[in-house]
Amino acid sequence: MAQIIDGKAVSLEQRELLKAQVEKMNIKPGLAVILVGSDPASQVYVRNKKAGCAQVGIYSESYDLPEETTQEQLLALIEKLNCKEDIHGILVQLPLPKHIDETAVINAIVPEKDVDAFHPVNVGKIMTGDYDFLPCTPAGVMCLLSHYGIDPAGKECVVIGRSNIVGKPQAMLLLHANGTVTICHSKTADLKAKCLSADILVAAIGKADFITGDMIKEGAVVVDVGINRRDDGKLTGDVDFASCEPKASFITPVPGGVGPMTITMLLKNTVKAAQLCSDKLGE
Ligand code: GUN
Repeated sequence: MAQIIDGKAVSLEQRELLKAQVEKMNIKPGLAVILVGSDPASQVYVRNKKAGCAQVGIYSESYDLPEETTQEQLLALIEKLNCKEDIHGILVQLPLPKHIDETAVINAIVPEKDVDAFHPVNVGKIMTGDYDFLPCTPAGVMCLLSHYGIDPAGKECVVIGRSNIVGKPQAMLLLHANGTVTICHSKTADLKAKCLSADILVAAIGKADFITGDMIKEGAVVVDVGINRRDDGKLTGDVDFASCEPKASFITPVPGGVGPMTITMLLKNTVKAAQLCSDKLGE
């Protein structure tokens, strides 16, 4: 029987710490949240992000733009927010409509306000280990591991998925924590053998219930980053919880595992961005 990693509880604790930190600051952190179009999942994420801001005392302003918004219009808004003094973080919810170039948008946000840590400057800083912001989902995973006393040092860490948002930075953070890291993807030969070698398995594939009990080692730590909607409308992760839970030592549920931590890490990055801005003003 695995110990369930309670992301909701850890997230709440982290938000209390952030709230106390914000109360002591001499500026109010501000986050701009931009949503283009009306993707229902994105609308939920954005709503939760704004609610999280309110919870810890971060000022937030939202820009809900229509699907037909042009790239030029979006870039002009980002340009304006780059210069806005009460805004310390800019978040553009992904995915964007097909006619907008995501890379151009990410590159337009000044790195100091890039609280998603998607800008190449911040990605590069993560690579070298000299970073201001950590990408939210991988940072949330690391925070959960640390909270439960799970040290990746010397462990076989297997990350399944190589996205820029999760897989790649997750591998880097586990490496910084001295794990021996393998990144798997759709072309990996004998994925099952790789999974079975993992002491810590992070699943970020985007396929419902993909990882089954026969694919994990006895006593493995299983972290599920996936959020998929089943045909019956229920949320499920990339891990088949029922068959993995009896074999794992620790496991994250979906919902209530990594999900709540992602937003908390965004709030943490926004507070950090404001603190860095305040430090710079005081110099
Ligand atoms: N879409 C899915 N995950 C994320 C995220 O972490 N940040 C943004 N901006 N969009 C997302």
